[in-house]
Amino acid sequence: MALDIVIMAAGKGTRMKSRLPKVLHRLAGRPLLQHVLDMTAELGRAHTIVITGHGAEAVEQAIAGSDAVSVRQMPQLGTGHAVQQALPQLSTEQGDGGTTLILNGDVPLIEAGTARALIEACGGKQLALLTIVLDDATGYGRILRSGDALGGRVLGIVEHKDATPAQREIREIYTGMMAAPTALLKRWVTALGNNNTQGEYYLTDIVAMAVDQGVPVVATHARDETEVLGVNSPLQLADLERRLQRRQAEALMEAGVRLADPARFDLRGELLPGQDCEIDIGCVFEGQVVLGDSVRIGAHCVIRDAEIGDGAVIHPFTHIEGAKVGAGALVGPYARLRPGAELGDEVHIGNFVEVKNSTLAKGAKANHLAYLGDATVGERVNYGAGSITANYDGANKHRTVIGDDVHVGSNCVLIAPVTIGEGGTIGGGSTISSDTPPKQLTVARARQASLAGWTRPVKAPKA
Ligand code: UD1
Ligand code: CA
Repeated sequence: MALDIVIMAAGKGTRMKSRLPKVLHRLAGRPLLQHVLDMTAELGRAHTIVITGHGAEAVEQAIAGSDAVSVRQMPQLGTGHAVQQALPQLSTEQGDGGTTLILNGDVPLIEAGTARALIEACGGKQLALLTIVLDDATGYGRILRSGDALGGRVLGIVEHKDATPAQREIREIYTGMMAAPTALLKRWVTALGNNNTQGEYYLTDIVAMAVDQGVPVVATHARDETEVLGVNSPLQLADLERRLQRRQAEALMEAGVRLADPARFDLRGELLPGQDCEIDIGCVFEGQVVLGDSVRIGAHCVIRDAEIGDGAVIHPFTHIEGAKVGAGALVGPYARLRPGAELGDEVHIGNFVEVKNSTLAKGAKANHLAYLGDATVGERVNYGAGSITANYDGANKHRTVIGDDVHVGSNCVLIAPVTIGEGGTIGGGSTISSDTPPKQLTVARARQASLAGWTRPVKAPKA
């Protein structure tokens, strides 16, 4: 059975008041449209068509990497008109039970299970509508049934603007999603007119056509309200963000993660936790983050694309991106690990320490106010407060190699390329521009002098 999926994304999104097309606004780090595309990937083989219009170029660019094709709708004359543009793209197989699923690019949390139920209800033979009963149905298309009860046969959909006061009392609404037999959909959509209050081609008018032609119409109920909510305004976007974050937080807690407060947790990507992980409030996770067992993350950390080893503790206000943290390491508070930072087991990185493109072997410590860039740091190295690697000569980056058991005093400048020999000590305040021997003390600063007989100047008396 051929499955075609049409995702409508041509609408203007006026209420977003944004230059960015509505479907490209981000929810949990991914564009709204991407949520829908990712969901369709779970439906098996399908041909996906995205209807673009407002901001078409940006939307087309955003989906360039996916299997979906795009079709432009210019101007936008309604949802029926949108589907008309997709017709030449739909499967031409005849009488094989081909089904077309219609989704909206601005309804991001629709679940694969619900979409599958809709496709099954259609089965290439019936028109299946996704509906839900709302307390306040204002603005939505209402489901007309024979008799008042929800059990009555579906007869049609009437748009809010075209509905009579009695019809506006109906609380079962059309969610904007349906599955239709492809061959029939083509016939119906081609026959649509625009004789209504808005002068638009309403896709929803195909329901009455199906009823007229004796094609069964079935309504599938959405599992919950969240999966059929659309985004029209920044307020609605933020509301969906919280709902999605809550869902993600619940899934993590069910997996055993202890979140201090699920309402103050943000995941914009994927978090793969080990056992007994604790996450304090206000943390943001982005990209793919892997946590070992018993990892503790303090409040207000931002962690993107990182791997944190068993038992590591990340203290509050730490920023980690593109980095690896070894087992039992302590990081922060206020530390910054930048791309290419790889901390071995039991490494300590303290407050206001920045590490970039550097490896620190087991037990190395940089506890305060320091910079390590393009460095290879040996085991048990102690790197003093205020010390930096001068890794950039204004044109190129160079490496600093620090051997095992080195102690670098405070306020040292290691001018790369340079190697500090194993077991050596660098005296505080040194500026090191050539390699130093192992095990010796190297001091590179002006020798201290005290001037006997020196007297402090006194202020000249006023004339
Ligand atoms: C539509 C339904 C209504 C349903 C509601 C659910 C019709 C006529 N009405 O209402 O029954 O309750 O969705 O939210 O279908 N779009 C285009 N091209 C257009 C017009 C719309 O691509 O010319 C896209 C929009 O970007 C959006 C979707 O279609 O993704 C729905 O459009 P919208 O204007 O929000 O739907 P309504 O007309 O309010
Ligand atoms: Ca509309």
